[in-house]
Amino acid sequence: MKITVAGTGYVGLVTGVSLAEIGHQVICFDINEQKVKELQAGRSPIYEPGLEEMLCSNMNGKRIYFTSNAEYAYKEADLIIIAVGTPENDDGSANLSYVRLVAEDIAKYSRQEEIIIVTKSTVPVGTNEKVKKWVDEESSKRFKKIHIVSNPEFLREGSALYDTFNGDRIVVGTDCKEVAMKMDELYGPLNIPIIHTDIESSEMIKYASNAFLATKISFINEIANICEKVGANIDDVSRGIGMDQRIGPKFLQAGVGYGGSCFPKDTKALVQLAGDVHHRFHLLEAVINVNNNQPLLLIQKAREIVGTFEHKKVAILGIAFKPNTDDIRESASLVLIKELINEGAIITVYDPIATYLAKQVLGENVLYSSSIDDAINDADITFIATEWKQVVNYPLNKYVSLMKDPIIIDGRNCYPLASIRKENITYVSVGRETLY
Ligand code: UGA
Repeated sequence: MKITVAGTGYVGLVTGVSLAEIGHQVICFDINEQKVKELQAGRSPIYEPGLEEMLCSNMNGKRIYFTSNAEYAYKEADLIIIAVGTPENDDGSANLSYVRLVAEDIAKYSRQEEIIIVTKSTVPVGTNEKVKKWVDEESSKRFKKIHIVSNPEFLREGSALYDTFNGDRIVVGTDCKEVAMKMDELYGPLNIPIIHTDIESSEMIKYASNAFLATKISFINEIANICEKVGANIDDVSRGIGMDQRIGPKFLQAGVGYGGSCFPKDTKALVQLAGDVHHRFHLLEAVINVNNNQPLLLIQKAREIVGTFEHKKVAILGIAFKPNTDDIRESASLVLIKELINEGAIITVYDPIATYLAKQVLGENVLYSSSIDDAINDADITFIATEWKQVVNYPLNKYVSLMKDPIIIDGRNCYPLASIRKENITYVSVGRETLY
């Protein structure tokens, strides 16, 4: 099969490289010429552990090519994987204009009579049918057969390759048995269970999965907020409930809230999708509200200790929405920073790899430092927004020696309370006792 992947963002690039790695011949297409040039030179435009190495080895093996020439990308492809972005519209719904562009290009450039179009982008239920309609119309119904497949992605940024090769399941939604078999062939070497469903169910599985994981996080954050008031400890509570196999231990880490390019966008899109069919998704609305409020609660707790942030020197450790990624989209850190700037704080930020992106968003509104030492030096307060290993492993006695009168507001519960107790630190975390 000749495979073309449309879009070289997170999902597209990881998919293309992984398919090449298991022996397929892949062309990756992107409209962004600069990005394609970078990729052709063997450089990954995103930071993802192991990706650049795998990219280069498959380029050397001549299994993967990059192009911004749509004709070259689609002319002979038997199977096209759509992995372009579906950003958020103002009303929270998913913007399908990039998906539509791909459909138009396929119609224009494909010389095949029969094609398989696989959608990996996160798209509302019904989109795959739309893709088929768009290709059919734009090509003046030239194709003998257009097969559509919904094949959502479940990879996490920062562990995208690991997740691709060790996934719990692959979901394939299609209404054609032969195409389902072709998808089995495509993914066979990965040796991961494949679930076959109809197209709509597959589309829904993606949104429902992300909404459920977001719900787990907001749930544990609410429990944490109550723990603080009743003197319970969220670490023990999470462990205690997570050991029930019906609940499971994952996604029960309380903190400053979820961010990133998926949960915030997909939860809103599902609320919107439900609304479109006249169903109000009360539970998910509450999940979103809890998440929006979580960084503000942390600021409130800090305010209770320092009184005001006006002219206070504040260090922010972590800008990425989670460790092992340079992605800062919808990061809780940015919410904290914005609020603290509004309240007159003088902010220095530290992130091991996302600083260059933070500069584009925050400009001269904050100071930047390349080490934790510099960031916290002489600071009144330190906020921890991302649990980078550099932060988790940072010696606590350095907060004492470098900060004025150390106050740590830890949005990721990086340190055991027992370790903090040994130091002279005021320590606020999430769902645990405040230490003075
Ligand atoms: C998420 C899903 O986990 C993937 O399965 C999915 O494929 C992806 O979205 C997507 O739709 O593309 P991702 O956004 O990369 O992946 O990151 P996660 O590891 O899920 O973390 C999301 C956010 O939740 C982070 O801000 C993280 O700090 C937060 N989180 C996660 C918590 O606050 N507590 C937890 O226990 C787990």
